[in-house]
Amino acid sequence: MSSLKLLLLVLFPTFTATQQLPSDPGVAGPPLEIVHLYNDQWPTGITVSQDGRKFSNYPPGLDANNTNDGSNGKYTVAELIGSDSETPYPNAEINSPPGGAINYTTYPPTGANHQTHLIGVQSVVLDPLDRLWILDTGRALTPDGVLVPASYGGPKLVCVSLSTNSVVRTIVFPPTVAYPDSYLNDVRFDLRGGGGVAYITDSSSEGRNGIIVVDLGSGESWRHLDGTPEVRPERGFVAFVWGTPLYYIPSPGQPLTTAPLGADGIALSADGQHLFWGSVGGRTLYSIPTERLRDRSQNSELLAQASIVNRGQRGVSDGFETDSNGFIYAGNLEQSAISFYNPKNASTSMFVRDPRINWSDTLSVGSDGYLYFTNNQLSLGSAFFPGTDRRQRPFVLFRAKLPENGSRVSLLDGL
Ligand SMILES: *[C@@H]1O[C@H](CO)[C@@H](O)[C@H](O)[C@H]1NC(C)=O
Ligand SMILES: *[C@@H]1O[C@H](CO)[C@@H](O)[C@H](O)[C@H]1NC(C)=O
Ligand SMILES: *[C@@H]1O[C@H](CO)[C@@H](O)[C@H](O)[C@H]1NC(C)=O
Ligand SMILES: *[C@@H]1O[C@H](CO)[C@@H](O)[C@H](O)[C@H]1NC(C)=O
Ligand SMILES: *[C@@H]1O[C@H](CO)[C@@H](O)[C@H](O)[C@H]1NC(C)=O
Repeated sequence: MSSLKLLLLVLFPTFTATQQLPSDPGVAGPPLEIVHLYNDQWPTGITVSQDGRKFSNYPPGLDANNTNDGSNGKYTVAELIGSDSETPYPNAEINSPPGGAINYTTYPPTGANHQTHLIGVQSVVLDPLDRLWILDTGRALTPDGVLVPASYGGPKLVCVSLSTNSVVRTIVFPPTVAYPDSYLNDVRFDLRGGGGVAYITDSSSEGRNGIIVVDLGSGESWRHLDGTPEVRPERGFVAFVWGTPLYYIPSPGQPLTTAPLGADGIALSADGQHLFWGSVGGRTLYSIPTERLRDRSQNSELLAQASIVNRGQRGVSDGFETDSNGFIYAGNLEQSAISFYNPKNASTSMFVRDPRINWSDTLSVGSDGYLYFTNNQLSLGSAFFPGTDRRQRPFVLFRAKLPENGSRVSLLDGL
């Protein structure tokens, strides 16, 4: 080596072109398949029927562009047609409340009170009998981005028969169960024993978090775990999605805060004995024996609080889902992934990871052995970045094959 070359190497050390540094592969688990592209309204929920029909919802409580004003044709529930179009479900009329989703005759404006029309739907879920349940928060954003409180008649569960495509049942929540500033987020069904039971998370960004229980036989509903730390967001919690820290603006003109989103994702264990949930503003997975939630006796709330189980860390997630292996799936948004918790070994593992995942919102196991999930870029919308909208259409419905022949669970008598 010449002395000049040696001098250069000492002054400017270089690495050989063949040197390989370890790097994040970004991908793990089964391949993602694209099922549907959403080019129009912004979706959250997805549910897939036994024969493969697919339904989504488009919450006006999270995107003002989803708010129906009585004449703009916006829908809050749709059936997916083909691979890239959607049609209002069960029909356009129910999706278009007379006068719109917001009642501007009150001051300040409030959610419209129509029991016969959809105001602001945050979730659509098929029950074990393949009936479509529509969870209406009764709330919507004004064009200025103000989330109006609900009025009695808005917050409700609406049941639609897939064979007749018509409403067969409406359960309206009293204001003592769905508060005006509640945000009914997601729902799961156990149809064993009598009429069955529904469990709902209240993710309210105003702090009214809790779990709502509905007796589907009588239509009665009640709350448990109201305001307990496990259903609340963690104070000061900051998620990092796609490398970006997520702060939050509660409404226009207000100062930044950390994500104030409480109990959101929800799933029943495969045997229906435990209900799992987690806050968006936190990484912990919690569960409670479902009998503690159904109990309405004098000591039932004390017993419920005393029976919450901390199942460890799951990551940051929105939707949850269950399969026949007993696995509890949950988004792992900071890892561009979906993880699952196995109750048999009390640990969380990676299911699928892909750089295209930039907010896995709602998960739904199909009878075909696939996990379907919407990817909707929620954290790039105006709630986290006020005055800006960094979302890029299309939003995507993906699916991935479940491990160990996993499939849909049906909590139904006689199975
Ligand atoms: C709202 O909808 C209009 C018309 O569909 C569209 O041009 C616009 O980009 C949408 N805005 C947002 C923020 O999604
Ligand atoms: C709007 O609010 C007024 C005053 O509370 C009420 O009388 C009316 O029924 C409401 N209409 C709708 C559609 O919510
Ligand atoms: C727990 O079980 C799952 C599913 O069988 C497995 O993939 C995972 O590695 C297990 N975790 C631990 C820590 O043993
Ligand atoms: C998020 O991922 C989807 C694919 O799933 C992609 O179409 C979209 O462009 C991504 N969003 C951004 C802001 O890059
Ligand atoms: C999955 O199903 C296939 C076909 O029925 C079977 O051969 C295989 O053993 C099953 N695998 C597991 C892990 O159960």
